[in-house]
Amino acid sequence: MSHTSYVSVEPTWRREALLEALRDPAAVLRAGGTVAFPTETVYGLGANALDPVAVARIFSAKGRPSDNPLIVHIAHIDQLVPLVRELPGDVHELARVFWPGPLTLVLPKSDLVPDIVSAGLDTVGVRMPSHPVASALIEAAGVPVAAPSANASGRPSPTTADHVRHDLEGRIDMIVDGGASGIGVESTVLELPQHGAPTVLRPGGVSIERLKAVIPDVRALDAFGGTDDVVAPRSPGLKHRHYSPSAPLWLFIGDHSAQLEAMIARADAILSEAHGKLGMLISDETAATLENSRPDLFAAAVATGIAADGGADGAADGAVAAADVTADAVAIARVGSRERLEEVASLLFLRMRELDQAGVNVILAESYPSSGIGLAIMNRLVRAAGGRCVFVQHQCRK
Ligand code: TXA
Ligand code: MG
Repeated sequence: MSHTSYVSVEPTWRREALLEALRDPAAVLRAGGTVAFPTETVYGLGANALDPVAVARIFSAKGRPSDNPLIVHIAHIDQLVPLVRELPGDVHELARVFWPGPLTLVLPKSDLVPDIVSAGLDTVGVRMPSHPVASALIEAAGVPVAAPSANASGRPSPTTADHVRHDLEGRIDMIVDGGASGIGVESTVLELPQHGAPTVLRPGGVSIERLKAVIPDVRALDAFGGTDDVVAPRSPGLKHRHYSPSAPLWLFIGDHSAQLEAMIARADAILSEAHGKLGMLISDETAATLENSRPDLFAAAVATGIAADGGADGAADGAVAAADVTADAVAIARVGSRERLEEVASLLFLRMRELDQAGVNVILAESYPSSGIGLAIMNRLVRAAGGRCVFVQHQCRK
C-alpha cells in the first residue's frame, strides 16, 4: 500500500500555470512513482516509460496481466523519434492530422523502450494526448509517460478522478484531478506494420471514417472485432476481459424497437424470478418509450441518470424526479441520446459504474449504430457483454 496524494487543476488554466501546478506530480513521475491524470479519452495511470521498475508499479497497481502492452504518451513530436526504429510513411500525415488527439500508433520499437512496456512485442504504441493537463504533465516530467487506463484491470475505464480513487486509492502515489474526461472511450489503436495494410486494433476516439480519409487502405474490424484470428494475437489486450461492470451484462442487438421489446420481455422474466436487482443501460429515447409503455417498470426504477451526485452531465433533464421512485427493483442508467453518439460515449463507462454502485445483479443494455464513435461504443459493449449478446429482429406481422 502507498499513500495516494491529490492535486487539483483546471484544464482551462494557462500553460505556465498548469506547468507550475503540476511540478509535484511531474517530480513523482521522474522519481519512478505512479500518477493518474486526465486525458481527453479516459484517465490514465502514468509512470516514466523509460524506467522498467516504475512501469512495473503500473502493472501491480492495476492487477494488469504482464502480456498486455502499454501506450507511451508524449507531449511533443520530437519525443517520438527515439522511441521507434523507423517511421513508416503514413506516420507523418497521421500525426499531422490527428495529433494531439485520441489516436495511438503502433510502430516498430527502439531499444530505448523497455520490454515491460511493450510486453515483449517488438512494437510500441505511442500517442500524443490533446488534454491540456496530460500534455503539461508529460512536458513537466520531461520523460515519455507509459499509461494504461487508470482502472483496476477488467473494470470500466475511469472518466473522473473519483473513479480512479475508487479503484486505485492506496495503490498509486498520486491522482491529478482535472475534471471529467471528454470523449469517454479510449483512443483508436492503429497498427502501422512494416509490410501490409494499416490495421485498427481497437476502435476509439478517432473514427474509421476519419482515418479512411487519410489512409484509404486502413483495415478495420466490425464491432465484434478482437475475435478476428488475424488481429487478436497482435493486440494482446483484446483477449482479456474488459470494460466490465461487476454484474453480467446482456447486450441486445438488432432493430431498435425489437431490442426494446426483447429487453422488456427479459426484464419481466428476471423480475418475476425475483433474482435481485435489474439494471438497464439505455438511451434517452428508450427510457422515454419505456416510461410511456411500461410506467410500472419505470416507477420501480432508481434512475441512476439522475443520481444523487447531481450527474456530471446534462443527461438528467426530464427524467423522473428522485421522489417518484417508489421501489428499487430496477435501476435505469441513461447514456444520452441515440442521436448524439458522442454523448453516449462520454457517459457509457460512468453509467456502468453507477449501475455497479446501485448494486444491480444483471444489466440489460441497448446497442447503437456502428458508425463514427458508435463503433467504439459497440466494441466496448460487446467486450463488456463477454459473449452475452441477444440478437433480435422484427417478427413479420400479418
Ligand atoms: O485513450 C487511451 O488509449 C487511454 C489513455 C490513458 O491514453 N489508454 C488506454 O490504455 O486505453 P490501455 O492500456 O487501457 O489500452 C491500450 C490498448 C490495449 O488493448 C493494448 O493491448 C493495446 O492498446 N496496445 C498497446 N501497445 C500495443 C502494441 N505495441 N501492439 C498492439 N497493441 C498494443
Ligand atoms: Mg484499459
